[in-house]
Formats: sequence, C-alpha cells, structure tokens
Amino acid sequence: MRILVLGGTVFLSAAVAAEAVERGHEVTCAARGSSGEPPAGTTFVRVDRDDPDGLAPLAGREFDAVVDVARLPSQVRQAVDTLADGVRHWTFVSSISVYSDNSTPGQNPHTGPVHAPLSADADERDVENYGPAKVSCEQAVLAALGDRANVVRAGLIVGPGDGSDRFTYWPVRLARGGEVLAPGAPEEPVQVVDVRDLAAWIVRSAETGVVGVFDATGPAVGRGELLDRVAAGVGAEPKLTWVDQEFLEAQEVNPWAGPRSLPAWLPLPEYAGMLDHDVSATLAAGLAVRDLAQTARDTLAWARESGRDKTDPADLHAGLTAAEEADVLAAWHRR
Ligand SMILES: NC(=O)c1ccc[n+]([C@@H]2O[C@H](COP(=O)([O-])OP(=O)(O)OC[C@H]3O[C@@H](n4cnc5c(N)ncnc54)[C@H](OP(=O)(O)O)[C@@H]3O)[C@@H](O)[C@H]2O)c1
Repeated sequence: MRILVLGGTVFLSAAVAAEAVERGHEVTCAARGSSGEPPAGTTFVRVDRDDPDGLAPLAGREFDAVVDVARLPSQVRQAVDTLADGVRHWTFVSSISVYSDNSTPGQNPHTGPVHAPLSADADERDVENYGPAKVSCEQAVLAALGDRANVVRAGLIVGPGDGSDRFTYWPVRLARGGEVLAPGAPEEPVQVVDVRDLAAWIVRSAETGVVGVFDATGPAVGRGELLDRVAAGVGAEPKLTWVDQEFLEAQEVNPWAGPRSLPAWLPLPEYAGMLDHDVSATLAAGLAVRDLAQTARDTLAWARESGRDKTDPADLHAGLTAAEEADVLAAWHRR
C-alpha cells in the first residue's frame, strides 16, 4: 500500500512509519523535520501545517491510507480537505483525553461522554484545550471520511523513544535498586500501551480496513503488577514501600508528570477511570500487547543509550529525584 504518515519524525508516528516500511509498504512521511528524522526506507516530504497552504506539496498525490497524529483542528481540517478524496483508509490518532468523565472505570467509546468540541474562538494550541481540540479533530475526520476512518483514542503510550518520562521513570528507578517509593496501592488499575504495539495495530488496521472509534491501550493491571513486570524486565528485585495518596499529597508529591511527581499515579476518586478503560473491543479488533517486562527492558536500554538514565530527574518531564524520594520515604517511616 501507499501510506502517508502526517508526522513520522518522532515517537508514535515514527514507529508507525517504521512498522509500515517493515511490512513492505511504500511510506511517505510529511512533517517539518524539526522533531527528528523520519525512519529509513521512507520518502520525506517537508510540509508546514501551520501554513494554511502547507499541504500543497501533497496535493494531487494518491495514497491508499493516511495516518495523522495532529492535535490542532485547523491542521486536521486542512488535511482532510486536501487528501480525503480517493483515500481508502484514514487513521486519526486521538486520545483518551477526549473523555469528559475521568472518574468512572470501565468506559469505552460507546459509553464514555466526551468534551464539547472546541469553540471556534478558543486557542487550539492551549494545552488546557487538548481534549476538546481532539474532539474537534475527530469530528472533522468522521465528517469527511465516515466509514473509512479509524479513530484511535490512545491511552498512555510508553516505550523506547518516549520523551515524556511518564513510564521511563519506573524502569530507570527500579534498575537503580534500593528502597523504592511506590504510590497509592498495588491493586489500583493502570493502563499503558507499548508504542510498537500501537503502531503495529494501526498499520495492520489500515491493511485490513478496521474502522470505528477505539480506546487504544493495553488491558488494565494493578500498579503492583505493573511494577512487578517492570522489575522483571530490568532484572531488579526492588523493595517497594507503598505510600498512600493522602501522605503523598501532604508531602506535595505531584501525580502523573512534572517536577516532584510520581508517574503512573493519579488522584482517586477523580481519576479512577482514566487508566481503567474497557478495551475489549480494541483487543478483539487486533491490538496485541506485549509483556510489560519487555517494554520495560527496551525502555531502559533506550534510556541508557540516550543518557536519560543519567539525567537528573529535575531535568526530566516526570519523576522524583533520588533526594526527593529519600525525603518522602524518611517522612513516611517517621510518621
Ligand atoms: N504520548 C502519549 O502518551 C499520548 C497519549 C494519548 C494520545 N497521544 C497522541 O498520540 C500521538 C503521538 O504522536 P507522535 O508520537 O508522533 O508525537 P507528536 O508530538 O504528536 O508528533 C507530531 C508529528 O507531527 C509533526 N508536526 C508537528 N507540527 C507540524 C507542523 N506544523 N507541520 C507539519 N508537521 C508537524 C511533527 O514533526 P515535525 O516537528 O518534524 O514537523 C511530528 O512528526 C498524538 O496524536 C498524540 O495526541 C499521545
């Protein structure tokens, strides 16, 4: 197939392009080239979608399938206007951030309410508007492509190349050894998807014509199981000390990401549904997930190759520094 990846220079879209090449497709990546290099074996077309006429270099080109990861409705409208005619299959990578209810576990695209689409006068680049903007993007794709569209609402995407540190913290931390501060409780559900598994499903779905709206993440597992698999993957036997939410909040430890944070941890009950979606339909539609131990092992290898494991966590996008973790643990033991 002739596959166009709108993106292809970083993380998921690069993994999609690499997977498509691997599977023998003729792959074009279209981006500015400022996030990185497209994978070997692809053809690169330089475009800037901030320019209203920025997709002109692709006008008139024919593709069997398009994969788009954009987050700005204006860019998505421009893409469907320029390219939708004649395309057999269109994947739009959306996000579980489209859901307006983060507290109810077990939601899926048929049951979960979504945000209202972004109003025309809203700032579509404001990160606060990410969810509503993705709703607008989905609507633009579905209006133009209808039953040729696969809307992929990704959950937390993890693995080699993840610059967000929202999972990488754990392989790096467990590999360092010693007493490890584990947030919340071991049975609290968490859900992630390996970037390579998601990419493989996106490409196979384009090949076979999977269409619809899917929550694209792995099955929920307890945080304790997640950390056990990470430990197995990096060859660690950590001593986990589980510290409850109230204590962590009192210690000003932030959930999820950012400075002084613990990744893969969200406040309950407000976020009890965010990492506990019902993904049975997605698994039935072919998403195959690898053992999290393998994800952890490969993520640690990537972190080491890229020097991320040596970077002071204060300079990363998520996690506690060793000193911050030791202080919180000491306070926990003193309580
Ligand atoms: N990471 C997660 O955990 C997570 C969770 C849920 C959903 N998602 C979704 O998953 C997708 C991730 O995509 P990704 O990993 O490939 O990362 P991304 O950062 O969303 O990639 C954006 C791609 O678009 C290109 N791009 C950005 N601005 C452009 C412009 N003005 N003109 C042309 N190209 C432009 C970038 O390349 P250049 O900069 O080189 O132009 C890059 O290749 C996104 O849709 C995101 O919303 C992510």
